Amino acid sequence: MVEQQTSWIGLRVGDFLVEDQIGEGAFSQVYSGANLSDGKKRAFKVAKSRDALEISHIVEPAPSQAIGLITGGLSGVHPDTVALLSSQVEKIRATNDAALVRIDTLVAEQGFGYYQMELLEGHTLGELIQTHSVSNSTLVEIARVMARLAKNSSFQYHGDLKPENIMIGESGVKILDPGYFGPLECDEGLFDNAAITTPAYYPQMEPDDILAFGLIAWEAELGIHPLLSIQVDDSLAIEDIAPGLFDWVRSYEQVGYYFLSPIYSLPRPTELKPELSAEMEDFLYKAVRVKRQPDGKIEKIPGFNSFDEIAEALIQASPRFD
Ligand SMILES: Nc1ncnc2c1ncn2[C@@H]1O[C@H](COP(=O)(O)OP(=O)(O)O)[C@@H](O)[C@H]1O
Ligand SMILES: [Mg+2]
Repeated sequence: MVEQQTSWIGLRVGDFLVEDQIGEGAFSQVYSGANLSDGKKRAFKVAKSRDALEISHIVEPAPSQAIGLITGGLSGVHPDTVALLSSQVEKIRATNDAALVRIDTLVAEQGFGYYQMELLEGHTLGELIQTHSVSNSTLVEIARVMARLAKNSSFQYHGDLKPENIMIGESGVKILDPGYFGPLECDEGLFDNAAITTPAYYPQMEPDDILAFGLIAWEAELGIHPLLSIQVDDSLAIEDIAPGLFDWVRSYEQVGYYFLSPIYSLPRPTELKPELSAEMEDFLYKAVRVKRQPDGKIEKIPGFNSFDEIAEALIQASPRFD
């Protein structure tokens, strides 16, 4: 049975009064609160109780899910939400980078947990995409932050990089809510291989932040996610798909991962946005690991090797870069 998670609004947490809910994901709710003595604000990320989890065994492209990687497919699973919060805090603290949200305290008990952190001002990249207000310089800044984080051995990968987990404010880019790839203890048992991620951004079920960023850059530039918005009119005809792309997509379909398959319907960037330069079109194709051949067919290519390479290519492709 799925129970409604009790709201924290109006609760007193230490010296704070919880005022508003500012976010909700599969495993947690995020609130803001004010200090009763000086009015200073903080954010609280609260683990959902076991009964409040709404988890289907069918894995969808979005949002974030806990996924068991099993032979021949995937299955939605029930993780320990307090353990997830604790490992998130551990990774954020160990990484110790100004681009990650600053955490004050973690409370982790059996079946109950939350962490208190700085309340960030600004908007998520998801909100900026909706209002068509993402500049190339913002994307370059995100790529530079990711380049630095990728070199940090405590961070290694984010694993759930997506527009809702990136905040843009006056103090710059902040990265929230890292995902996870590896062994996971769940109600269903111990999985040697599991993921806390969003398949639309991690379609290969690997912690490949560079591809996730490429998908985000496409979405930010063109307003639609390349693997979520199938546009029937713009679908590639079967004869437009070169063999390497077929093989790439099929290798995942064969193990039961269908999240890459919508790439067959990839619209041409300049058809979606006629004013886009040829250089930006090339950048976006490369960011999602394909290229348009002279014969018009779409072929798989290796794409970018690092976030430094992405940042540099994005600057080169942006004529009026400031
Ligand atoms: N410290 C914070 N300051 C302001 N907003 C936040 C903060 N942390 C999270 N949020 C908001 O709450 C949403 C959900 O938080 P997140 O950590 O991504 O949790 P979830 O695991 O539920 O996705 C974010 O997309 C963002 O809009
Ligand atoms: Mg999130």
